[in-house]
Amino acid sequence: MSDQANIAVEARAQPALVTCSAVGKIWPTQGEPFVALRDIELEVARGEFVVFLGPSGCGKSTLLFLIAGLEQATQGRIVCGGAEVNAPGTDRGLVFQEASLFPWLTVGENVTFGLKMQHAPKERRRRVAEEILERVGLSEAIDKRPDQLSGGMRQRVAVARALALKPEILLLDEPFAALDVQTRARMQHFLIQVWRQAGVSMIFVTHHIDEAIALADRIVVFTARPGRIKTIIPVDLPRPRDSRNPRFHALADQLTDLLRDEVDRAFAEQERIKS
Ligand SMILES: Nc1ncnc2c1ncn2[C@@H]1O[C@H](COP(=O)(O)OP(=O)(O)OP(=O)(O)O)[C@@H](O)[C@H]1O
Ligand SMILES: [Mg+2]
Repeated sequence: MSDQANIAVEARAQPALVTCSAVGKIWPTQGEPFVALRDIELEVARGEFVVFLGPSGCGKSTLLFLIAGLEQATQGRIVCGGAEVNAPGTDRGLVFQEASLFPWLTVGENVTFGLKMQHAPKERRRRVAEEILERVGLSEAIDKRPDQLSGGMRQRVAVARALALKPEILLLDEPFAALDVQTRARMQHFLIQVWRQAGVSMIFVTHHIDEAIALADRIVVFTARPGRIKTIIPVDLPRPRDSRNPRFHALADQLTDLLRDEVDRAFAEQERIKS
C-alpha cells in the first residue's frame, strides 16, 4: 500500500469529522412527497478529500446543504466535530459554482466579510486577508474589485473567503463547472495545494469523472433519485495524478460503468416528469 493510502487508512481510524447516519430528505411539494435522499450512511475523516459523483438531480447538492446546515434532514442525523448539525457554522466553509462575491467590496473585504460580521478589528481583517490571499496566489488582487478578475481568480477568492474563518471542512458544490478545461485543471491543482496546507477536510461535488479521480481520496457514487450511496471507490494514486496513467483510465472506465445505469434512470425519470 502507498504512503498516501496508509495516511488515508490511519485518518479513517480516528473518530470521523462528519457522520451521516440514516439521513434522508423529503422535499415538501403540492402533490406526492418528493424523496430526494434515502438512507445515507457516510463518514468523512479529518483531513480527508471526499468527492460526490452522480447523475443530475440525484441529491448531491441536497446532501451538501444538509451537512452545511442550510437545510434540515427529514430522517436521520448529521454530526460534525461531535455536535449535531442543525444550522450553518464557521466549522463548515462553503464554495458554490458561482463565486457570489459582493461586487461593491474589494477582494480583501470579500475574503474577510465573515470576520467583519464577527466584529474582528480592521487591522486583523487586513492581516488575515493578506495571509490567505498569499496562500491562494492572489496577493496582488487584494484591493481590486471582483469584476476585475477572471472566473478562475474569482473562484480562488471564494475559496479564500471560505478559509478565512478557519473551517474544519470545505463543502464545494461544482466550484469549477463554469470554467474552461485548462483553467479547471489548474484549479484542481490549486485546490490540492490549499487542502494540503490548510489541513482541512473536503467534500467536493462534481459531474466529471476525471475531476473526481484527480482530486479524491474516496469517490462517493450516488444512485439516481432518490439518491442513495451506490458505492464508495477509494482512489489510491499518487498526486499529482496523471490522466494518462493506465490506472487512472481503469478507474474512469469503472466509474463510467457505475454511472451509466444511473444516468439512464435519471433521464427516464425526467422524461416521465415532462410527459
Ligand atoms: N428546495 C427544493 N424544493 C424541492 N425540491 C428540491 C429542492 N432542491 C432540490 N430539489 C429536488 O431534489 C432533487 C435533488 O436535487 P439536487 O439539487 O440535490 O441534485 P444534484 O444531484 O445536486 O443535481 P445537479 O447535478 O443537477 O446539481 C432534484 O430532483 C431537485 O429537483
Ligand atoms: Mg447540484
